[in-house]
Amino acid sequence: MEGPVLFYNGTEFEAMFHLPDPTSTKRAVLLVALLLMSGSAFAADPIEEKAKICTACHGETGVPQLKTTPVIWGQNEGYLFLQLRDLQSGARKNELMSPIAATLAKEDLLPLAGYFSKLKWPNLQQPEAPKDVAAKAQSAAASVGCPGCHLHHFQGDGSTARLAGQQREYLQKTMVDFRNRTRGNNPGMSDLMNATSSDDLTALAEYLAGLQIDQYLGSEHR
Ligand code: HEC
Ligand code: HEC
Repeated sequence: MEGPVLFYNGTEFEAMFHLPDPTSTKRAVLLVALLLMSGSAFAADPIEEKAKICTACHGETGVPQLKTTPVIWGQNEGYLFLQLRDLQSGARKNELMSPIAATLAKEDLLPLAGYFSKLKWPNLQQPEAPKDVAAKAQSAAASVGCPGCHLHHFQGDGSTARLAGQQREYLQKTMVDFRNRTRGNNPGMSDLMNATSSDDLTALAEYLAGLQIDQYLGSEHR
């Protein structure tokens, strides 16, 4: 299971497959064929395998274990990729997520983003914001122009995050992180959060968390 090198000198392996005499070319060809076969058998879907460690925090069914861990199932692909890149480079830091990002291979970031973006966003059953909170949030959103980037239903697109139905505590935390630049990977978002009162941020987190937008999504989000 550890890869080809282990097999090369394994007499057990050789005996098992009745390999011909070491000097024959037939033997070399057979070895290569066996190695190729074993490679594909053990790495049936490497990204799906690698994505398994993510479930420890982001959830087996897309519902994260902690309220301050974001939903990544069904999040936009470009956005997921950029966050993995920033968490890996250290431009964005988090004590739980940074050590994980550090272990990922660069070439796996885009496939992981693609993998999670195609899963269905979970319904966290967060309550719809009361009318007064919704009105406060909508007016704050209109004055800063959030829908200009996060789009009308807060579904985001490409490299912009979906906010609708995200965990309320996570939204609150990450907006405050942007504001005090603990989350420093997007100075533009930090400036916008600083232009928003802390009362409005709390209303926005409650409002965005309670939005159900399945009916507005295209088939790519299932
Ligand atoms: C030990 C827990 C843990 C594990 C395991 C983990 N994550 Fe995370 N992840 C987090 C936390 C917590 C955050 C929020 C970071 C913050 O608040 O800035 C996060 C944030 C993210 C984000 C940013 C999402 C957003 O909305 O900005 C992405 C993308 C992500 N994780 C992908 C992954 C992938 C892919 C894996 C598996 C390879 C993984 N995570 C494994 C805890 C974890
Ligand atoms: C000019 C475009 C723009 C506007 C306007 C904007 N955003 Fe953003 N927002 C972004 C981008 C781009 C990101 C991703 C930043 C990054 O790379 O980390 C983001 C990220 C976020 C995140 C983090 C999502 C996550 O999963 O971690 C939240 C929350 C957010 N925005 C809320 C808002 C709110 C609320 C408003 C209005 C008050 C707003 N944004 C206005 C562009 C914008």
